[in-house]
Amino acid sequence: MTKNMVSFMPTLQTGTANTAIVPYEAAFAEEVMLIANKFFGEGYMDKNRLKAMTGGEGSFYAAVTNSQVSGYCFFPYVSAEVCALRMKLPKELLVKNSNADGMVCQTKTMAVDEPFRKTGTADALFEACLNKAVCDGLLSAWGSAWKIGGVIPMERIFLKNEFRLQLEVPYIWYDDRQYKCIVCGGRCRCTGIIYYKLLG
Ligand SMILES: CC(C)(COP(=O)(O)OP(=O)(O)OC[C@H]1O[C@@H](n2cnc3c(N)ncnc32)[C@H](O)[C@@H]1OP(=O)(O)O)[C@@H](O)C(=O)NCCC(=O)NCCS
Repeated sequence: MTKNMVSFMPTLQTGTANTAIVPYEAAFAEEVMLIANKFFGEGYMDKNRLKAMTGGEGSFYAAVTNSQVSGYCFFPYVSAEVCALRMKLPKELLVKNSNADGMVCQTKTMAVDEPFRKTGTADALFEACLNKAVCDGLLSAWGSAWKIGGVIPMERIFLKNEFRLQLEVPYIWYDDRQYKCIVCGGRCRCTGIIYYKLLG
């Protein structure tokens, strides 16, 4: 993987003139945790989880508006096996649709603070992360999108970026006992919608 890495700096294309899309750095940690836990629920992100998620190979960007973090997008690169486990999918299904039995880009988590939605910030973050994954030589990207009631907040962005819908996984995050889902008010009973895209 490392030999395929190339440096990458996205061009900013948001509707908010003062917003920059920049590589994630540890100095953003507190603000990222605040945004993540505000929109997903208590215990979703803490220092250890953040460090584990962003400490390895991957594509990690933050949106910074007037020196404050306004959003983040994290795509760790994981083995097909780990990705399948996290998404409660049979490994064979993932490998069959992944172009390779190697590392895959997991579109793990993103959130944009409310005042900065519908500005293009989310699109710019997602595209920066995806472009880096392509530059890094990843062959497929997989994500589980939250379904809240009948609404999938990430649907528009996944479809815009030519991801395909794979299937629905009920109770996808239920095993995470630390996470108190903001929708369920306790252990998460939400459904995840699996999207994937071949990148190679
Ligand atoms: C998911 C999330 C990041 C999406 O943010 P978002 O891009 O602002 O997306 P939204 O779907 O709210 O807004 C998109 C709208 O902004 C519009 N838009 C995009 N770029 C724009 C721009 N530069 N100027 C004006 N409008 C723009 C889009 O056309 C779209 O319009 P529509 O609603 O009329 O179709 C955000 O809802 C969020 O942080 N949610 C909480 C966390 C979450 O659910 N994360 C995903 C878990 S899987």
